[in-house]
Amino acid sequence: MLRVTIDNITTEVDEGTTILNAARKIGGKIVPPAMCYYSKLKGSGGKCRTCLVKVIHSSELDPRPLPKLVPSCSTLVQNGMVVANITSDEVLKERKAIVEFLLINHPLDCPVCDQAGECDLQNLSYEHGLEETRYEEDRREFAPQDFGDKIKLHMNRCILCYRCVYVAEQITNERVHGVLYRGDVSEISTFVENFIENDFSGNIIDVCPVGALTDKTFRFKNRVWFTKAMDAHRHCEECAGKVVLWMFGSEIYRVTGRKDQYGELEDFICNECRFEKKNLSDWEVEGPRDIKRTSVISQNHYGKLTKQSIIKPIEGKTEPQE
Ligand code: SF4
Ligand code: FES
Repeated sequence: MLRVTIDNITTEVDEGTTILNAARKIGGKIVPPAMCYYSKLKGSGGKCRTCLVKVIHSSELDPRPLPKLVPSCSTLVQNGMVVANITSDEVLKERKAIVEFLLINHPLDCPVCDQAGECDLQNLSYEHGLEETRYEEDRREFAPQDFGDKIKLHMNRCILCYRCVYVAEQITNERVHGVLYRGDVSEISTFVENFIENDFSGNIIDVCPVGALTDKTFRFKNRVWFTKAMDAHRHCEECAGKVVLWMFGSEIYRVTGRKDQYGELEDFICNECRFEKKNLSDWEVEGPRDIKRTSVISQNHYGKLTKQSIIKPIEGKTEPQE
């Protein structure tokens, strides 16, 4: 085991653990934000720089500090390493600069974006962003693109984290999209207008940290904070069938995978569960999903929400509860 201290808290981790995962083992506010790393996707990380930390002591053998901030998602822990995240002014200042950089081309269209309320970049901007932009140049602009009949790409919002590319490569059996070109003309696109029609392609919507990839069956139908999130499952031959139903009254507006505290999917779900099963009778409802109190989604009336208040209207016993 290797001993590492992050923001004055010491823990022990296995060899090969990254600083980010060591911080996640400790938990709480010292965990650096991650916009491109995704623990279930091999090769992810190292693109967005939101997870930068300061290494104050490299290791027991070499106590010198590292000269620059390092991405915690791709830097391995050494025995005796001492790291600063929220206890370092330099890291916090740099994180502010990274957020400003990510927002250079990202439109501030949260009022009309379907990801609003559950967008990692929106949350990061509230925590670390500047109050106004200093950017005076022209922003990149791309026309929205359809990825088949269920997924829409708004390239203007993409931060090029590559998560969707890794999902296509590792979770589906045929990747037909990727990052084209280099530098500030880079864009996510399908090769020669191929549609993403794989059974697991819908997962690219869930891993996208911003509103670049959205569910066309849900777009503009409702704001996420007006819906009720219910855990549910069904027997599915293709995936674990464990999902979250986003409901309004007794109607299912959207089906997504279940995400953990770091916004990562617990299980990838298939397109049949995601797009085709929108009747309550398709699902065994488990109960209301636990949503962080700090999330805008928890603006719901959870006090009154029970499994019965969702199920009964279907049986015609009471009016739907909203
Ligand atoms: S579309 Fe979303 S998931 Fe894909 S690279 Fe852009 S921001 Fe990342
Ligand atoms: S999460 Fe580490 S660089 Fe993006």
